Formats: sequence, C-alpha cells, structure tokens
Amino acid sequence: MKRIAVLTSGGDGPGLNPCIRAVVRTAIDKGLEVVGVRRGYAGLIESDMMDLNVRSVGGILNRGGTFLGTARSLEFKTQKGQRQVLRNLNRASIDGLVVVGGNGSLTGALKLHEMGFPVVGIPATIDNDVNGTDISIGVDTTLNTILDAVDKIKDTASSHERAFLVEVMGRDSGYLALMASIASGAELALFPEVEIEVEEVVRAVDAAYIRGKTHCIIVAAEGWEPGARALYDYLRERREEIGFGVRLTVLGHVQRGGSPTAYDRILATRLGAAAVQALLDGRNGMMVGMIEGHTGLTPLDEAVAFQKELDLELYELCRIMEQ
Ligand code: ADP
Ligand code: F6P
Repeated sequence: MKRIAVLTSGGDGPGLNPCIRAVVRTAIDKGLEVVGVRRGYAGLIESDMMDLNVRSVGGILNRGGTFLGTARSLEFKTQKGQRQVLRNLNRASIDGLVVVGGNGSLTGALKLHEMGFPVVGIPATIDNDVNGTDISIGVDTTLNTILDAVDKIKDTASSHERAFLVEVMGRDSGYLALMASIASGAELALFPEVEIEVEEVVRAVDAAYIRGKTHCIIVAAEGWEPGARALYDYLRERREEIGFGVRLTVLGHVQRGGSPTAYDRILATRLGAAAVQALLDGRNGMMVGMIEGHTGLTPLDEAVAFQKELDLELYELCRIMEQ
C-alpha cells in the first residue's frame, strides 16, 4: 500500500478535523501518501481530490466542521455511481480508502469493500447509533453543547416558573435526549425508543409543579412522536391545569458545530491512527471503534446491520433522578 485517500461523509459533527489530521499524519509517518477527497462520495464521483501533507492539516485540531467538506450523494447509491468511484480511485492510483461518517456513509464504504476495494470505516455521528463502538466521534461535544444550553434555559425557567420543551437532534435515536436529560437533571426525557403518551407528559409537568419545583425541563428528541412542537401547542392549551407557563426551544444545528472537546479530539485521533494501521495490516472491510477503552475492529457489515440499541437501563436511572 503506497497511497490512501480519506473522506468525510453524511451529517457532520465536531471531531472530523482531528480525525482527518490523525489519518494524514499517521499515514505519512508510515511512509504513505495521502489524498483528501472533498465533499464525501460526491467528491469521489467527480474526482475532486487534493494531495495532503503534514502541514495541510495544521491548525485544524480545535476546529468544528470538516475542512474537506461533506455531502450526501444520491448518485453514489447507484451501481453506476459506485463503478465511477472505483474507476476514479484506480485512476488516481489510490490503494486504500478511509471513510469517516455515520451509518449511511459506512454502508457506502461496505459497498466499495464488496466491490473489492480496500476500505476502513470510522464512526462519526452525533446520534451515537453505530454498532461496534461504545461512542462515535462528535457525541461528547454535542452533549456538552446541549448541556450548556439546558443549564442556561434552567436559569430562566426557574426565574419565571416555567416548563421548557428543549428539542435536541436524533431523528431515529434517543441517545442525545436521554443522556442530556441525565446530565442536565431534566424532569422528563422523550425519545423514539420509548412510547410516552402526551397525557403522561401533562401529568409529569403537573406533578413537578405540585412537588414545588420552580421549573420543569423536558428534553425531547426530534424523532419523538408526535413531536415537541405538537406537545408545546397541547401544553399551552392545558395551561390552567399544569401550573407552569410553557416555552419551546429547538436547539437545531448549533448541536453539530463547535470546537471538539478533549474527549472527541483524543477519540478522533486514536480512531484515525487505528484506521490507517488497519489498512496497512490488510484488515479491509472493517470499522475501527472504541470498545471498552481500547480501539478494536468490527466488520462493516456487522457495524451497519442494525441501529445500535439504546441502553434502556439508563432510562430507569433517568426516571429515578427526575423526582
Ligand atoms: P450518515 O453517514 O451521517 O448516516 P447518510 O445516511 O446521509 O449520512 O449517508 C451519507 C451518504 O452515504 C449518502 O448520501 C450516500 O451517498 C451514502 N450511502 C448511504 N446509504 C447508502 C447505501 N445503502 N448504499 C450506498 N451508499 C449509501
Ligand atoms: O445524523 C445526525 C443528525 O444530526 C440527525 O439527528 C438529524 O436528524 C440529521 O442529522 C439532520 O441532518 P441534516 O439537517 O444535515 O439533514
């Protein structure tokens, strides 16, 4: 193996830059050449690549986003798109590819592996829903961003004796909502994996009021049905019964940006280095992950076979802390 490429794909998150940096510097340390692909698979289809050296990745360790850019590419999902990518990789004399991204991007990596190209994946998604790793790149920073916001919301909620609905990301995953609830001391967590009726929420808000709380913080994942907006409208209609006034804050894409935490920088650096080593060792079609404190490998097909399950024992813990 002489020349490898690295790309970031799918939804971005903090920690992608430290990860690219680690791939580049490890590869160069091992005597490899490195190429950066712009805009994920879309850039591979267009052969939009640039040579990288140790200096090209200087000054990015603390920066959010990804300096290579990221994208979603429908064309890459087709066989024609994938064949074009293989052709471009071969024409650029690339011997191996590192794909940094979430479930979708890693599924794309698996396709290239199945077509015979040496690929290693690195899990990066704020949703923490990838199997084969305890935690994905970006999760820790995002949780801290949410905590910062909820702590501030709690200040104003207490001053005005209000209930606040805080919508966090997680279209299909409740990880952020549940963990942010535990870490912020929220009164209720709502997320897709557990069915909670709107009436149950009304009772919980009312109960918090009666217990004498000065606020009631409800953290809702965007994938929870019927949704934070619908719940907000409903709670406002029931204003007289629940005691608290109600406000809604949708945190949105602020959760995807920001300087990566120390944890994310170290995680991204370790996984980036491990991915290059896996390519050198011929461990193709694998994803590197953090397993019980150590880097480890999981076949890409296992990593993307299903969405990583939420540990519902933590929901029990959350309920106890809500009192
Ligand atoms: P994430 O990687 O954050 O989960 P997406 O699900 O949007 O983000 O996937 C990112 C990209 O990965 C898609 O735009 C597409 O190019 C590629 N991809 C996703 N699913 C597949 C698939 N089943 N086959 C091939 N490529 C895929
Ligand atoms: O995959 C991570 C995620 O943050 C989801 O929780 C969210 O629904 C989605 O990305 C939104 O991504 P975008 O706005 O880029 O389509």
